[in-house]
Amino acid sequence: MSTDRTWAYERYEPERERLVEALCTLGNGRFATRGSAPECPAGTVHYPGTYLAGCYDRRASVVAGERVENEDLVNLPDWTRLRYRLRPDEGPPGDWLTPDSAELRHYGVRLDLRAGTLTRSLYFQDGGGRRLRVVHTRIVHMGDALLAGQRTLFRAYGWSGAVEVESVLDGAVVNAGVERYRHLEQRHLTDHRSGFEPGGVAWLTCRTTDPGSRLALAVRTVTRPERPAREDATATGTVQTYRLPLAPRRPASVVKTLALHTAADRPPGDPRTAACADAARAPAFPRLLATHRAAWQRLWEQGELDVPGDAGRILRLHLFHLLQTLSPHTAELDVGVPARGLHGEAYRGHVFWDELFVLPYLELHFPEVARSLLRYRHRRLPAAREAALRAGGRGAMFPWQSASSGREETQELHLNPRSGRWLPDHSHLQRHVGSAIAYNVWRYAQATGDRGFLHAEGAEILLEIARYWSGAATFDATLGRYRIRGVVGPDEYHDAYPDAAHPGVDDNAYTNATAAWVLARGLDLLGELSEARRAELTEELSLDDGELQRWEDVSRRLYLPFHHGVISQFEGYGELAELDWEGYRDRYGDIRRLDRILEAEGDTVNRYQASKQADTLMLGHLFRAAELRALFARLGYALDDATWSATVAYHLRRTSHGSTLSSLVHGWVLAREQGDAAWEYVQEALLGDVADLQGGTTGEGIHLGAMAGTVDLVQRGITGLDAGPEGLRVAPVALSRLPRFSFTLCCGGHRGVRLRVLPGRLGVHVPASPKGPLAVVLPGERRFTVAPGEERWFRL
Ligand code: BGC
Repeated sequence: MSTDRTWAYERYEPERERLVEALCTLGNGRFATRGSAPECPAGTVHYPGTYLAGCYDRRASVVAGERVENEDLVNLPDWTRLRYRLRPDEGPPGDWLTPDSAELRHYGVRLDLRAGTLTRSLYFQDGGGRRLRVVHTRIVHMGDALLAGQRTLFRAYGWSGAVEVESVLDGAVVNAGVERYRHLEQRHLTDHRSGFEPGGVAWLTCRTTDPGSRLALAVRTVTRPERPAREDATATGTVQTYRLPLAPRRPASVVKTLALHTAADRPPGDPRTAACADAARAPAFPRLLATHRAAWQRLWEQGELDVPGDAGRILRLHLFHLLQTLSPHTAELDVGVPARGLHGEAYRGHVFWDELFVLPYLELHFPEVARSLLRYRHRRLPAAREAALRAGGRGAMFPWQSASSGREETQELHLNPRSGRWLPDHSHLQRHVGSAIAYNVWRYAQATGDRGFLHAEGAEILLEIARYWSGAATFDATLGRYRIRGVVGPDEYHDAYPDAAHPGVDDNAYTNATAAWVLARGLDLLGELSEARRAELTEELSLDDGELQRWEDVSRRLYLPFHHGVISQFEGYGELAELDWEGYRDRYGDIRRLDRILEAEGDTVNRYQASKQADTLMLGHLFRAAELRALFARLGYALDDATWSATVAYHLRRTSHGSTLSSLVHGWVLAREQGDAAWEYVQEALLGDVADLQGGTTGEGIHLGAMAGTVDLVQRGITGLDAGPEGLRVAPVALSRLPRFSFTLCCGGHRGVRLRVLPGRLGVHVPASPKGPLAVVLPGERRFTVAPGEERWFRL
């Protein structure tokens, strides 16, 4: 049974196995291994996978007669494989045992969220009454990010003899985790070499095909009782075979310890030599486990979140996966936020705008990690500048999908699995990703007080994105306003006007409003720089007064479309046909991917007022009501509460929630607007991955944006929290389903500040330190301070 500290499955259900593997993935920010059964190679049921953050490979494929290139997060050799079978004293050996064996009697998988361990227990009974219990315990070391370990214990009941064990390092792996990508080139590893070193160490080296990154895996296998291995190197890996005596009360064990190195590791050196040395000297499993647990304990202390009940259990799992994908080790790497975690191959491990939902948590708990994710973008500024130039623009045009180099990695064709047709993919026109990056830079600095970053790399990113928007806006003399044409909004369904020859829609309200916001912040930022830095930047970026004048002008005169008293998703949205929502729901049940349904019917979603996910309403996620009003006012539009409420209701009725981000954003916006009415969406956001609501996609990788977003929904959304170096503002909304919760955060120079929210009350505890008191602002501008070492309670 799952508790708030564990996540458990008590039966073996082959059709659920991929989901279990994804949700039981273990990682340390540098690499992750899916929670697969060690007994089974990849097949229709099982899909072992190990992914190293930032390790991509580019391959060309031919689909629908066209050559396409894709860069994929590479599935690395499987270090977990372990085969075993009974070798009774008498009679022939049994069959290799797996969860799929007829002899399986009990099965259980348990993820310990506190300790970061995955335990899988199997209990077999063969036709001769011989019973065998097998327990695997796996870790991916959170302290030493080069290491992972797996211990397998065997216990015999009612027989004696031996268990024959094969410990395998399997390099014959491909990227085959996503059915939709099966027509694409799946082979990313080449030049396999393998061998053995003394002390039970097996090694395997290989490289990706392009750019040819060298990888080395070394696995030390140690058995109890100690037995010599037969060692066989295969073309793509190694097999070590042991015969371990087994009898009642005389158990046996096998421990595999992995060291994973690449040529990019520091200090530089031969990855094979380094991996073998690390595997050989790694401590025994109990010690490895103890240091791993200690590292997790430190993480939980920094990231504590206590929400009672089922919601709390799921939130803790979400936080666990966030911390495994982006841990303090991430700060050492040049990687972005992979939308599907390091948990599977969906979206090829690419980086989208999802960091918008992920960074807020990190800023308040692990600011160095948040900064390193922004640096990933900064290092790709030259690629974004080049992309803008190629598109005839200026500044930085960041790609919708980013991977290693920062070039656009969005696929050119995508498959509609319903119709079997390959279709042009125009989602790269989601230029709003640039605003998300600029917004992250700004908010990071507000939350952490890191003006150093904002004025250095942050300014370069933000100003170049502002410059891009200024150039992308064209003046329409009839309207007397600037317009941004030919884009795709967060909705994604609408990639063109019906029957148009060109892709893209005009004046997506979210895109235009956030572009105006970026331009305004660009000007603010220039205003707050020291004279020397401002001079340096204007020189470096060749900014002149004429250009800044244009920023000012565009930031005040971008066009925002309205119809029937609501904000239109884009120009002309209100003229599109209304969809028969009930009819489609009756006919298809699940209409989350309405775009695919309509295309398969020979129709197109472009004809309808139907959105995949929150688009215009994203404005209510990013900006508080007053901020949004001010942004609209700067643009010369009055946005009153009635218009916003009507806009929320209008778009909500026309959204199919085909992305896990959708219910999250709607839950957030509704919670701030209507309190309890939001619960349906909050609940859906919580269940998105654990109940696999997007129709089987979680097995291909978790949805990290939605997972982190739900944690942030509690932290900032429901709490109405605004934390920064000056202290914190809190304005909780009452949600009867989440009446009480607590969490810690970094704020006002203090680490470990604890907030407790109870019905009508708020507790703030500031840990003892020589620092000054923490300022707290409550609704109605009521101002207080809490001294270090003190806990104060406030009425809300
Ligand atoms: C959503 C995007 C998101 C991407 C990666 C898509 O389904 O529409 O908004 O960035 O998934 O999570």
